Amino acid sequence: MSILIKNGRIITASDDYIADIFIENEIITTIGKNLKLNADEVIDAGGKLVFPGGIDPHTHLDMPFMGSFSSDNYETGTLAALHGGTTSIIDYVIQSKAGSLKEALKTWHGRASGNSYSDYGFHIAVTDFNDSAKDELKNVIEIEGVTSFKTFMAYKGALMIDDKQMIGIMQEAEKLGAVVAVHATNGDIIDHLIQQFKKENKLSPLYHYLSQPEITEIEASGRFIDLANMTKVNSYIVHMTSGGALDKVRMATLRNQKTYVETCPQYLILDASVYNKGFESAKWVMSPPIREKSDQESLWAGLNQGLIQVVATDHCPFMWNEKKNGEHDFTKIPNGAPGIEHRVELIYSEGVNKGRISLNKHVELCSTNAAKIFGMFPKKGTIAIGSDADIVIFDPNEKHIISAKTHHHRCDFSIYEGMEVTGKCKTVILRGKTAINNGKVLLEKGYGKFIKRNTISKNI
Ligand code: URP
Ligand code: ZN
Ligand code: ZN
Repeated sequence: MSILIKNGRIITASDDYIADIFIENEIITTIGKNLKLNADEVIDAGGKLVFPGGIDPHTHLDMPFMGSFSSDNYETGTLAALHGGTTSIIDYVIQSKAGSLKEALKTWHGRASGNSYSDYGFHIAVTDFNDSAKDELKNVIEIEGVTSFKTFMAYKGALMIDDKQMIGIMQEAEKLGAVVAVHATNGDIIDHLIQQFKKENKLSPLYHYLSQPEITEIEASGRFIDLANMTKVNSYIVHMTSGGALDKVRMATLRNQKTYVETCPQYLILDASVYNKGFESAKWVMSPPIREKSDQESLWAGLNQGLIQVVATDHCPFMWNEKKNGEHDFTKIPNGAPGIEHRVELIYSEGVNKGRISLNKHVELCSTNAAKIFGMFPKKGTIAIGSDADIVIFDPNEKHIISAKTHHHRCDFSIYEGMEVTGKCKTVILRGKTAINNGKVLLEKGYGKFIKRNTISKNI
């Protein structure tokens, strides 16, 4: 099987030029001007942008959480991802308390294998760094190809670990070249505020937002960064929302420390006014919550300053009837929202189209940096000879409206309902196969492969 993509404007993290791309089987084999090669399929990309396939390194598919399961499974979630130009995801496996890492991994392989449309890798969220988990790390990294571990400094009583466990996992991960990622908010302060609001009968979704003020993120981010500095581990903060937390990252650069940072479209685009809609605000109940307009500005600046390297989605959808479990108590609203389909287009529309970021920066944020940080580059994350042929052909001018009526998420609402977006993924190719063309699905379920990832060196 071969594909020839003609005359596209190829954008990578560093380049911008017009050329043809020749794909044989799963790989890009030739790039050049006016290629005269016979191909099974020829695609005219004149007037279009040609990006590397998007990589979303923060998703929760088919995940048991707060009394339900996230509503997208591997089949529906990865198909929605492909519609929006994301060809690879890294999903979160959750270790159960006192359970082993391998057991958790086996469960998630069972969920994904044969069901995934896109390629996928796993991070493991370590919720109990006991002796057996410690003994498993080497094998999980070197044999299973899972080279990043997430920790939670919040969700007290469920996922949260303490600083002793954090130091333990950081020291082991450092020895093995793995990345330690974190949900950085202070679980004790949040828990205290929740108990206070409950006593005062303040139970609407607004109090979800008020129970996680910016200080909870600033404190935990700073503590995590200090522990990472002490242990010298490769560190990564997921879903950063606030200018104050970003200042902790900026301060660490003064001692030549690099902590990788991710933010999400919802934190760049939406603001805390979403919590003034009565119970409808449950749609935006996620952790951390959406913050102020001034935080949006700090985050956009942080992308250009190189302090934030990745835009992921934290895709964790729940149906509205599951959100309604918390109608009389915000602590029972499952945390999370859908977004896996919209990231590449939203960051183009709100970022490139509005002049906030360059085209090269868009590719860095949506693909290349995640591939580098999580040990997949240059197989994934770029358009180069020898790389996997994961490619998005993008119309920068096509306008469309986001709606739950038309999105592909398995979720009956959208947190971006009615928003106009400029730019559309027209053709999406995954490992040499056209997956999506003009909204039509051409790939079969189960084509998506597990990605075994490598460890990375310091300061990539
Ligand atoms: O609210 C969120 N973010 N739900 C998913 C779990 C997490 O904290 O990442
Ligand atoms: Zn989180
Ligand atoms: Zn998450």
